[in-house]
Amino acid sequence: MDWRVPLADVRLGEEEEKAVLEVLRSGWLTMGAVTQAFEQELAAFVGAKHAFAVNNATAALHLACLAAGLHEGDEAIVPSLTFVASANAIRYTGAKVVFADIESEDWLCVSPRSIEEKITERTKAIMVMHYAGFACDMSAILRIAEKYHLAVIEDAAHAIGASLDGKALGTWGDMGCYSFFGNKNLTTGEGGMLVTNNDLLADKVRILRSHGMTTLTWDRHQGHASSYDVVDLGYNYRIDEIRSAIGSEQLKKLPAGNARRDELVQRYRQALSEQCPAIGLPFGEKRGISSQHIFPILLPEGIEKEAFREQLKQRGIQTSFHYPPAHHFRIYRQEGETLLMTERVARRQVTLPLFPDMSDQQQEWVIEGVVEALARLLGD
Ligand SMILES: Cc1ncc(COP(=O)(O)O)c(C=O)c1O
Repeated sequence: MDWRVPLADVRLGEEEEKAVLEVLRSGWLTMGAVTQAFEQELAAFVGAKHAFAVNNATAALHLACLAAGLHEGDEAIVPSLTFVASANAIRYTGAKVVFADIESEDWLCVSPRSIEEKITERTKAIMVMHYAGFACDMSAILRIAEKYHLAVIEDAAHAIGASLDGKALGTWGDMGCYSFFGNKNLTTGEGGMLVTNNDLLADKVRILRSHGMTTLTWDRHQGHASSYDVVDLGYNYRIDEIRSAIGSEQLKKLPAGNARRDELVQRYRQALSEQCPAIGLPFGEKRGISSQHIFPILLPEGIEKEAFREQLKQRGIQTSFHYPPAHHFRIYRQEGETLLMTERVARRQVTLPLFPDMSDQQQEWVIEGVVEALARLLGD
């Protein structure tokens, strides 16, 4: 469909084209010097000791779960209000996925209190997700993790460039995972990165990313190794040089892109709070610096979400929904399980368009569309 205002869009230009051409002309297409440079740049950007580029964030999350030692018989706690990949990554290891609720209608991140309620003697890890790039309550979560000796994995798919108390999201727990999917603040089409400050975890991730092998094709190409052993059941989660080249260029553009997102979000908040006070605007509290990956709103109780979205669609405005609660999916559904705040928010939540190159005019169309759709549905 040809949207007047799409939900998301990416900034790709001559810089990315040139970087990709250089890789093509170099004759070395898979993980090599360009990927190493991207990893070092990203590690420096977020302030992490180790960074491992992978083919997507789901792979990064899976590696994090494996490195945390999750396996059958274990449990790991994760919010239900997340993309299903967070839960799936736990499930891949054979561990049981245990869902926790979110903090409130204002803060859509996992609640430390709910996490603590879900802990059993089988719990081994907590996976948090920084919704829209807003920080989970990491001090409280780390205190719980320390008390019960649990690993903390951050699903920071939304959160590249975001921070809390000056420390990058993704570097608070034992491991953090970023996504570079085609609609993310930093995109390589498909791609992801796992970061950690822990040398032991880094050693595990390095091996597991490439079949459990002790050396890489790149090491052998450079003459640093001539053979290898296989010491664990690993995977092929490698990234290629083309995507790493795009990633390096995208990283340079990220601060400006995130700043523009923030500017647009502040305008949305001001306009909607003035013109549509019945709409809920989560993340009103001040906590850290968000990457403003998406802009969620909460419709007033009683408004039919799909009718509202249809009104905007008719004006060429694309909207979305983050997320259908994962504990409602058939694969994860358990008789009688309820997460009150997650369910209450999910019923009312709609995501409005947000991307750095969104024009002021496009934003005005969205605001006007929201105001008029709501007035019509409220029967004003
Ligand atoms: C919260 C969250 N976690 C995990 C993922 C998975 O990322 P990827 O598509 O890079 O595997 C996404 C991607 O959309 C996401 O939004």
